[in-house]
Amino acid sequence: MALLDDKVVIVTGGGHGIGKAYCRGIAREGGVAIAADIDEQAAKDAAKAIQNSGGKALGIRVDVANLASCQTMAEKSLQAFGKIDGLVNNAAIFMTVPAERAAGRKSPKKLGIALWRSTSRDCGFAAALLCRPCNDEKREAS
Ligand SMILES: NC(=O)c1ccc[n+]([C@@H]2O[C@H](COP(=O)([O-])OP(=O)(O)OC[C@H]3O[C@@H](n4cnc5c(N)ncnc54)[C@H](O)[C@@H]3O)[C@@H](O)[C@H]2O)c1
Repeated sequence: MALLDDKVVIVTGGGHGIGKAYCRGIAREGGVAIAADIDEQAAKDAAKAIQNSGGKALGIRVDVANLASCQTMAEKSLQAFGKIDGLVNNAAIFMTVPAERAAGRKSPKKLGIALWRSTSRDCGFAAALLCRPCNDEKREAS
């Protein structure tokens, strides 16, 4: 028996970098990895790569700075797998300079300060908060 057998785990920012590695690790341990990313194609590609190597995964779009988008992420996960066991709240825009400086320069991601702030502040709150009531509704219905 593997560590995460049949556990359904959402990884925000699962399309690239560390989040993508989390997804691979979850699948390797027998779990279902839901790669949720604002870059939908990257999320789907990450999930496809896991499926191609025999693991269970789903790639979906989410913007963690948007509550409605997080709700949709949770609902899609429930529709696909019937439960959500865990959340790795990884999505963020990692940088080593202050937000004010980053927003003022021409970075490849063309960051706005509002996006930077809301992403870093809201992502865990939104995703965790919205996954839980969805699970509760599911339990009540069954
Ligand atoms: N790389 C490092 O050295 C390092 C160090 C400390 C902490 N971290 C943290 O680890 C996490 C991942 O870092 P990484 O280096 O893999 O970064 P990355 O840029 O490679 O990956 C971040 C992912 O988050 C996604 N993302 C960005 N905004 C989003 C949004 N609003 N909604 C959904 N997805 C969104 C991106 O599309 C990307 O796939 C971040 O939280 C970062 O702050 C990274």
